[in-house]
Amino acid sequence: MGPGLQLVALGRIFFFFLALLLILFLVCHLLVTDPDFQRRGLGAMLLGHVTELADAENRRIYLEATAAGHPLYEKLGFRDIDLITIDLKKWGEDVTDYNWVMMREPQTKL
Ligand SMILES: CC(C)(COP(=O)(O)OP(=O)(O)OC[C@H]1O[C@@H](n2cnc3c(N)ncnc32)[C@H](O)[C@@H]1OP(=O)(O)O)[C@@H](O)C(=O)NCCC(=O)NCCS
Repeated sequence: MGPGLQLVALGRIFFFFLALLLILFLVCHLLVTDPDFQRRGLGAMLLGHVTELADAENRRIYLEATAAGHPLYEKLGFRDIDLITIDLKKWGEDVTDYNWVMMREPQTKL
C-alpha cells in the first residue's frame, strides 16, 4: 500500500472513531460568559440546555474544564476523570496550567 493510500486509510479510521465518540457522547468545547455579567446564573443557564438535551437522549457529556469552569461543572453534576497538567515554561511562561477532564452521566428525573 502506497503512502497516499495509507493516509486515506488512517483518515477513515480517525473519522470512524470521531463519529463513534460523537454518537456516544455530547462534547462541550467552550463555555464563556461576559466578565461583566458573571456569577449571575448565565453559565448555568447555557449549560442547562446541554444537560437537558443529554438527559433526554440518555447521553454522557464530555468536556475539559479550566479552573474557572470547574466549580460550575461540578455543580451541574460533572465528575473528574483525569487532570491534564500543562507546563507553560516551554513557551516562556513561568506557570503550570491545569485542565480537568470531566464527564457527566445522563440523569433521569423522577
Ligand atoms: C466559567 C464561566 C462560563 C461561568 O459562567 P457564569 O455565568 O459566571 O456562571 P454562573 O453564574 O451560572 O455560575 C453558576 C455556579 O457555578 C459556580 N461558579 C461559577 N463561577 C465560579 C467561580 N468563579 N468560583 C466559584 N464558583 C463558581 C457557582 O456555584 C455558581 O453558583 P452561585 O453563583 O449561585 O454560587 C465564566 O466564569 C467564564 O466565562 N470564565 C472564563 C472562560 C472559561 O474559563 N470558561 C470555561 C471553559 S471550560
